Amino acid sequence: MDRLIIEGGMPLCGELRVQGAKNAVLPILAAAAAAGGECVIHNCPRLRDVEKTVMILEQLGCDVKREGGTIVVNSKELTDCRIDEGLMREMRSSIIFLGAILTACSRAEVGMPGGCPIGLRPIDLHIASLKKMGVSICEEHGYIKCSCARLRGCPIHLDFPSVGATENIMLAAVKADGVTTITNAAREPEICDLALFLNAMGARVKGAGSSVITIEGVESLHGAEHTIMPDRIVAQTYLISAMITGGRIRVCGAEAVHMRAGLSALSEMGAVITEDSGGIELKSRGSVKSVHIIRTMPYPGFPTDIQSPFMALAAVADGTSVFVENIFENRYRHVDELVRMGADIKVEGRSAVVRGVKGLLGANVEAYELRGGAALVVAALAAEGRSTVSGTEYIDRGYEDIEGCLARCGASIRRVCG
Ligand code: UD1
Repeated sequence: MDRLIIEGGMPLCGELRVQGAKNAVLPILAAAAAAGGECVIHNCPRLRDVEKTVMILEQLGCDVKREGGTIVVNSKELTDCRIDEGLMREMRSSIIFLGAILTACSRAEVGMPGGCPIGLRPIDLHIASLKKMGVSICEEHGYIKCSCARLRGCPIHLDFPSVGATENIMLAAVKADGVTTITNAAREPEICDLALFLNAMGARVKGAGSSVITIEGVESLHGAEHTIMPDRIVAQTYLISAMITGGRIRVCGAEAVHMRAGLSALSEMGAVITEDSGGIELKSRGSVKSVHIIRTMPYPGFPTDIQSPFMALAAVADGTSVFVENIFENRYRHVDELVRMGADIKVEGRSAVVRGVKGLLGANVEAYELRGGAALVVAALAAEGRSTVSGTEYIDRGYEDIEGCLARCGASIRRVCG
């Protein structure tokens, strides 16, 4: 297993270009399976999850070619409507293929994501919505088996604005009979990117980005060309890295409108932020102030995905910061590792109280999940001495060449393979 070796204390200075968004490219690649033609998708990041998604497309019978950041998916002749348990287990988000495969084949069979039983989290909203659209669903031998004569458009109210469920419904509704209206839909920018792509494929999706999305079913879809939006979580991770090291960085291609909650927290913590149409620049004033309270919420609230890198920053702030994680129950696994580096953090249920310390110390730490892993890298960049971050396979799920990006801006970071 790879490790990242980081010598902390180098201010991050320079410019980098943000990668395409992981959370946009996955549903868009799934949508390409339903196009029945050739889709050309630009700005695809090189990530493990994207590779797995390509493997799923190939398993379904799509012809997939990759050239640099462009992935070409031809879904003219799907030969299969089944995704193996193995691939499903590796990537929970592959559940969004359900809607796309149903649109393409009226049948779908996918392995249970992480062995989670139907009716319980995290896919109850997906399942209940598809059932409302006329899909018969049963669970057999670890597979979710779905079939329907015709998908039926209908009103669907989500009890919680789930990103994945909103995407799944959109994918199932594009060729359904009649109109589907999703209320309390997720409003994340990645939903808008998916809607743009679906509309380029000939779908009729309106209202994406608001809490009411209307999808009018169409007779047929076709291939389309699309450029994936910039990754707002990766962009913020690099801005935080510059802030924690007392540096100055420009993240080209980043969209400030997608990051209002995070940018406002960075300003509160003392960053000088300049936005223009080409990107975002962050300049540190040399010290970090605590942030009053960070509560993770569905978009446009503070994103759960950037909570942990912000916690690394708060760990060295002047004062005490409070975090409340409202989206996922188990998203504080990075805390013990930050504490090993000298952070003072107390967790109580969904809340964490972070008392800023003068400095962190390099240590051997382990990433247990993607964003928590990024938080450890951020902390290690500022820590005194050497840190070794293992569990890089999680970080690689969401960050393209993290060591290259940071090293180009002056960080001392290298990967040791094996
Ligand atoms: C997506 C993102 C992920 C991000 C999350 C929240 C992708 C590939 N991943 O994940 O990076 O952290 O949004 O912004 O886009 N839930 C249920 N039942 C369901 C579905 C969800 O209870 O049927 C719960 C989940 O357990 C979780 C919450 O709703 O507590 C949010 O989940 P959701 O918005 O669906 O997140 P994902 O789409 O899985």
